[in-house]
Amino acid sequence: MCHSKKLVKLAVHMPILLPLVLLYYGAASTHCSTVHENNRDLQALLDFKQGITSDPNGALSNWAMSSHFCQWNGVKCTPTPPLHVTYLLLDGQKLSSQISSSLGNLTFLKYLDLSSNNFVGPVPLLDSLQQLLILYLNNNNLSENIPDALTSCSNLTALDLSSNSLVGSIPPKLGLLSNLVYLNLRSNQLNGSIPGELGQLKLQTLILSNNRLSGEIPQAFYRLSSLNYLGPIPASLGNNALGLQVIDLSFNNFTGQIPTSLGKLSNLTFLNLEYNWLVARNNQDWEFLNALRNCTSLQTLSLSYNELHGSLPPSIGNLSASLQTLLLGGNSLSGQVPQSIGKLRGLTWLALDENNFSGTIEGWIEKLKSLKKLHLESNKFSGHILS
Ligand SMILES: *[C@@H]1O[C@H](CO)[C@@H](O)[C@H](O)[C@H]1NC(C)=O
Ligand SMILES: *[C@@H]1O[C@H](CO)[C@@H](O)[C@H](O)[C@H]1NC(C)=O
Ligand SMILES: *[C@@H]1O[C@H](CO)[C@@H](O)[C@H](O)[C@H]1NC(C)=O
Ligand SMILES: *[C@@H]1O[C@H](CO)[C@@H](O)[C@H](O)[C@H]1NC(C)=O
Ligand SMILES: *[C@@H]1O[C@H](CO)[C@@H](O)[C@H](O)[C@H]1NC(C)=O
Ligand SMILES: *[C@@H]1O[C@H](CO)[C@@H](O)[C@H](O)[C@H]1NC(C)=O
Ligand SMILES: *[C@@H]1O[C@H](CO)[C@@H](O)[C@H](O)[C@H]1NC(C)=O
Ligand SMILES: *[C@@H]1O[C@H](CO)[C@@H](O)[C@H](O)[C@H]1NC(C)=O
Ligand SMILES: *[C@@H]1O[C@H](CO)[C@@H](O)[C@H](O)[C@H]1NC(C)=O
Repeated sequence: MCHSKKLVKLAVHMPILLPLVLLYYGAASTHCSTVHENNRDLQALLDFKQGITSDPNGALSNWAMSSHFCQWNGVKCTPTPPLHVTYLLLDGQKLSSQISSSLGNLTFLKYLDLSSNNFVGPVPLLDSLQQLLILYLNNNNLSENIPDALTSCSNLTALDLSSNSLVGSIPPKLGLLSNLVYLNLRSNQLNGSIPGELGQLKLQTLILSNNRLSGEIPQAFYRLSSLNYLGPIPASLGNNALGLQVIDLSFNNFTGQIPTSLGKLSNLTFLNLEYNWLVARNNQDWEFLNALRNCTSLQTLSLSYNELHGSLPPSIGNLSASLQTLLLGGNSLSGQVPQSIGKLRGLTWLALDENNFSGTIEGWIEKLKSLKKLHLESNKFSGHILS
C-alpha cells in the first residue's frame, strides 16, 4: 500500500521538508506502481467518466481499476513517479455529457483534446491548470459564455472553441493569455466587438469567422500594446510582436473601413474579411491596399461581399507577388479592371463576379498564366474572351 495520502499531508505541514518528502515519495511509489498512488488524478478521471452519458465507441471501456490510470485510453502521464496525467486525448469518440469540472483537478495537464464529440453545457472550469498548453474543445455543442476563468490557464498557447454554441462577447481577459499563438472561435454565436486587449497577444492565427461580431476592426489590435508608448523601440522588437499570419473575420457584421494598420503585419499570409459590411468609397478608404504592400508573404486576400464601391485602384497590382487567391466578388465595384492586376502573376484564383465592372479584360487576363479559377459573371464586361 502506498502512503501518498499521509505524505501529502506531511508536505503541507512541513513545507521545508518538501524536497525530501518528494524524494522519498518518488522512491516509494516505484515499488507499488500498479497501485493508484495519485488519488486526486484518479478521482478526477473517474468523476469525468461517471458523468459521461453515452460512449458508443467504448472509448472509456478500459477505464477501470484493474489497470493503472496511466494506461487508460487517451491518458498519458508524467514519465516518472509521482504519476500525473499530462495528456488527455479523447477527440472524435462520440462522447456525450457535460464536461466535468473535475478535470480542473488534473493540475499537471498539458494537453486536453475533447474535440469532435457531443459535449454540451458550459466550458468547464479549468482554472487550476497552470501547465495547460493546448485546449481543444471544438466541434461539440458547448453553450453559455466563454468563462473568464480560462485566463487562469496562463500558459495556454492554443485555444480552439470553434463550432460550438457559445454566446455573449469575447472576454477582454483573453488578452492576459500572453503565450497564446492560436485562437479559433469560429462558428459560435459570439456578439459584441473584438476586444482591443487581444492586441496584447503574440497571436499568429486568429479565426473569429461565422459569429455575430460587429463594430470596427480595431486599429489597436495590431499594435504592440503598451510598449509602443515607451518611446522608440528597436524595429526587431516591434516586428516580433506583430507575427499574425492568419486572420479570418469572415461572416460577421463588421463595419467601417479596412484598417491600414494591417500593413504592420509583415508575416501575414491569409486575410479573409468576406461577408461583412466593410466600406470603401473614396481614396482614403482604399489606402489599406497600399498598406498591404508591406505584407510580402500574403497568399490569400478575400474582401468578397462587403461594401466596396467605385473603381478598383491600380495599387491592387502592388500587392504581394506571392498572392494566389484574390476574391472581390459581391461588391459594387465599377469601371475598368486596372491593367496593373496583370502584375499578380502568381494568381491561381481570381473572383471579380457580382460587381459592376465594365470594359474589356484584354491586356491583363493573358498575363495571369497560373489562373485555374476565374469568376467574372454578373458584370458588364464587353469584348470577347481570348482562348
Ligand atoms: C478536486 O479534488 C479535491 C480533493 O483533492 C476534491 O475535494 C474536489 O471535489 C475536486 N474538485 C472537483 C471539481 O472534482
Ligand atoms: C507556466 O507559466 C509559468 C509562469 O506563468 C512558468 O513559470 C512555468 O514554467 C510555465 N510552465 C510551462 C509548462 O510552460
Ligand atoms: C445544441 O444545444 C442546443 C441547446 O443548448 C440545442 O438547442 C441544439 O439543438 C444543439 N445542437 C446540436 C447540433 O446538437
Ligand atoms: C449578445 O447576445 C446576448 C444574448 O445572447 C444579448 O443579451 C447581448 O445584449 C448581446 N450583446 C451585444 C453587444 O449585442
Ligand atoms: C447584422 O446586423 C444587422 C443589422 O445591421 C442585423 O439585422 C443582423 O441580424 C446582424 N447579423 C448577425 C449575424 O448578427
Ligand atoms: C516572420 O517570420 C519569420 C520567419 O518565420 C520570423 O523569423 C520573424 O520573426 C517573423 N516576424 C514577425 C513579425 O513575427
Ligand atoms: C511598412 O513597413 C515599413 C518598414 O517596415 C514601415 O515603416 C511602415 O510603417 C509600414 N507601413 C504600414 C502601412 O504599416
Ligand atoms: C507601386 O509601387 C511603386 C513603388 O514600389 C510605386 O512607385 C507605384 O506608384 C505603385 N503603383 C501603384 C499603382 O500604386
Ligand atoms: C452599375 O453601373 C451603372 C452605370 O454604368 C449604374 O447606373 C448602376 O447603378 C450600377 N449598378 C450598381 C449595382 O452599382
